[in-house]
Amino acid sequence: MTQETALLPKSPVAGEEHVPARKVFVKTYGCQMNVYDSDRMSDALTRDGYVATDVMEDADFVLLNTCHIREKAAEKVYSELGRLRELKKAKASAGREMVIGVAGCVAQAEGNEILRRAPAVDLVIGPQTYHRLPEALKRARNGERVVETDYAIEDKFEHLPAPDRAKTRLRGVTAFLTVQEGCDKFCTFCVVPYTRGSEVSRPVAQIVAEAEKLVDGGVREITLLGQNVNAWHATGPDGRDWGLGDLLRRLGEIDGLARLRYTTSHPRDMDESLIEAHRSMAKLMPYLHLPVQSGSDRILKAMNRRHTAAEYLALVERIRTVQPDLALSGDFIVGFPGETDQDFEDTMRLVEAVGYAQAFSFKYSSRPGTPGADLKDQVPEDVKAKRLERLQTLLFKQQRDFAAACVGREIDLLLEKPGRMPGQLVGRSPWLQPVNVDAKRSQIGDIIQVRITKAGPNSLFAELIE
Ligand code: 5AD
Ligand code: SF4
Repeated sequence: MTQETALLPKSPVAGEEHVPARKVFVKTYGCQMNVYDSDRMSDALTRDGYVATDVMEDADFVLLNTCHIREKAAEKVYSELGRLRELKKAKASAGREMVIGVAGCVAQAEGNEILRRAPAVDLVIGPQTYHRLPEALKRARNGERVVETDYAIEDKFEHLPAPDRAKTRLRGVTAFLTVQEGCDKFCTFCVVPYTRGSEVSRPVAQIVAEAEKLVDGGVREITLLGQNVNAWHATGPDGRDWGLGDLLRRLGEIDGLARLRYTTSHPRDMDESLIEAHRSMAKLMPYLHLPVQSGSDRILKAMNRRHTAAEYLALVERIRTVQPDLALSGDFIVGFPGETDQDFEDTMRLVEAVGYAQAFSFKYSSRPGTPGADLKDQVPEDVKAKRLERLQTLLFKQQRDFAAACVGREIDLLLEKPGRMPGQLVGRSPWLQPVNVDAKRSQIGDIIQVRITKAGPNSLFAELIE
């Protein structure tokens, strides 16, 4: 998923109209945490008088917030930097400055190498040091080529400004909130433990304060984010070690906050308290992104996933007992080194057994520095492609079947934004599907009762229940 986000108010702060605002263009690649981080970085730049633009050519500062998870994602950044180099030259000959920055996981993984490969880049900043962006940008504007990829000792969240009310309003009625960052699991295919570092959980009070601020700005649904979100734990106000289940219950007490979600979870960290939250908390949406990656025990072991296919299935069963209405989503990798036809068939069988409402599936991409990259028996690209096609055909069918089964159901719908057709709004079902319904603009932020009337390929259609 690639998103271009316009992140700041489009006019200078009141009272500062006389200062010509500098403009920042942020392009976000990759996961939801990058979307969250892009907002935080933009918020930090507001203090220095920057406003957002969604026209790259107009920007004084272009920041790419990058993803390193697969080779393709990382390479995209370099082709964008090639284009930016031309733009920077053109602007320079017109006497205008354009600073180019690279943030995110490519920045963390490649650091100085980016400056070498992409001479137009002025600034490289890793995810652990975003709070230093304003200062790094000043240095870059003074002609220094800056690389900030140390793991900062200070808590970046304490130093990054939380979004203010006006900005929150502009960003809509749903919001992300990072509660945990980094990963200690070391799956053998994955760069995250290297790019995002080891697991860090934010303290309860900090999270609650940010959630309250979001709700004050009109947010009705919060998705808690973490690379390993269900590994979140911290000392609660009662002195106990809290897990994600406890945190969700606490956030559920916030008046005006209607819905909670969390992503991404590891099967090993689904504890009883979290599972129980799916039974008892009406505000917790019946949707769970629980990647399994493969259905073969041999491959799961080689991936260092620390669970078997049977354990995953038993866990799914357990959560479904508690919340029968649960929609499951997953991530899959085909063609991990050593994956045989039989291993792949095991994955297909697991998918059949679970029945996913949504899924993301990828060809294995060898990542430098991960143990998987050194394994012999890499699977040929054409074999990966064939397996991916078969898997995706099955997953898409399950997704369509799930959507079709929603037709006729009556649900609560949180209205988020204007739809494609005039007079329509679009919201999300409890199971995260986009739902189109005839409604007035003034109803954005309302939760209305609708009946699903039709399932399209990527969204549902609904009518208001009178
Ligand atoms: N190759 C392919 N897919 C990967 N993922 C992570 N690393 C790789 C890789 N090297 C996938 C996993 C993970 C999702 C975010 O990206 O499925 O859950
Ligand atoms: Fe990567 Fe595995 Fe950690 Fe997920 S759990 S971020 S796949 S190492």
